[in-house]
Amino acid sequence: MQKALLTWYKAHGRHNLPWRNTRDAYHIYLSEIMLQQTQVKTVLERFYFPFLERFPTLQSIADAPLDDVLKMWEGLGYYTRARNLHHTALTCKGVLPSSPEELGGLKGIGKSTAHAICTFAYHQALPILDANVKRVLCRFFGLSTRDEKVLWSKAWELLDRDYPYEYNQAMMDLGSMICTSKKPLCSLCPLNTMCKGKKNPENYPLAIKKAKIPTKKYFALVIEKEGKIALIQRQERLLHGLWGFVQVNECPLNSYSLGTVTHTYSHFKIELHVVKTSLQVKVDGWFGVEELNDVALSTVDKKIIRLYQSTSVKKPYQLEAQRAQNGG
Ligand code: ADE
Repeated sequence: MQKALLTWYKAHGRHNLPWRNTRDAYHIYLSEIMLQQTQVKTVLERFYFPFLERFPTLQSIADAPLDDVLKMWEGLGYYTRARNLHHTALTCKGVLPSSPEELGGLKGIGKSTAHAICTFAYHQALPILDANVKRVLCRFFGLSTRDEKVLWSKAWELLDRDYPYEYNQAMMDLGSMICTSKKPLCSLCPLNTMCKGKKNPENYPLAIKKAKIPTKKYFALVIEKEGKIALIQRQERLLHGLWGFVQVNECPLNSYSLGTVTHTYSHFKIELHVVKTSLQVKVDGWFGVEELNDVALSTVDKKIIRLYQSTSVKKPYQLEAQRAQNGG
C-alpha cells in the first residue's frame, strides 16, 4: 500500500505548495492553521504570502497587537484561529516546541495538527488524521465508524515509518484529489485493488444527516456623525475582537433602509437589514471612510460598507416595510 501510494505521490502529488518546500516550523504551523477550515486555493492565492510578509516570524506575531493579526486574517473567517495564533506566539515566546505533546498543549493545535507540524518540519514518524485522511482510511478499511480511537489506530497501522513526510502529504493529496467525499475517482486510485470500500465509497464513513441551519435576523445600524461611522468591537465568541456595525432586534424609529446583506457561517445564516439611523447608542469608535481600511472587519460588515457606499439616500425603513406588507 505504501509503495503504491508513494509512487502515485511522486507522479501526481502537489509538490509545489510553498509549505511543502520549507522546513520552517512556523511557516508549516501557519499553513496547517489556515488550511484547517479553508481550501488550499484560497489560502495560496489570498492569505498565506501576505500574512508571512507582515509576520515573517512567530516572534513578530508575539510583538504585534492582536488587532494587527486579526486585520491580516480579515476575510479568512473562523477568527478563533487568529486569536489562538497570537496567544500561542506569546506563550512560546516565538519558538515552537518540537514534540507532539508540547505542541498539542498549545491553543488551537490539536493532535493531528501537532503531528502535521512534527512530520512536515522535523520528519518525525507520526500519522495525521484530518478530514481527508479519515475518509481515505474509512474507505480503505471499509469502516463506517467515525470513532476517533479506531481511526487513530488505523492511521498508526498504515503509517510509513521510513517516509513519514511523503506518506502523510500523499494521504492528504489522495483525500483531496482522488478519494473525494462526492464522486471519488476510484479508477485513478493507486489503492484501488486493496480498497475495501471501493464498491460503495459513499457509505464510508456513514453520512451524518446535517440539520438545516437557522437564519438569524437583525437590524444593522449605520450611524454617521461628521463624516465618521460608528462601530463597536465585538465581544461575542464568533467574531471576538473584530470591528463592526451595531446590531439590534428592533428597527429604530426614523431610520432609512439601505438594503439587506446576508452571510452564511457554519452553524447559522445571518440576514441583516441595514438601516441608517441617528439613534444614539454606545459605540467603541468612530471611523472615517479611509480609516475603515485599517481595522479588522468581518465579511458581513464589509458587505454593509459596500452597500452603504453604493446607495444614495434611501427610503424610510418603515415605509418600505409597510409597502412590503401591503404586497409591494
Ligand atoms: N491541508 C492541511 N495540511 C495540508 C498540506 N500540507 N498540504 C495540502 N493540504 C493540506
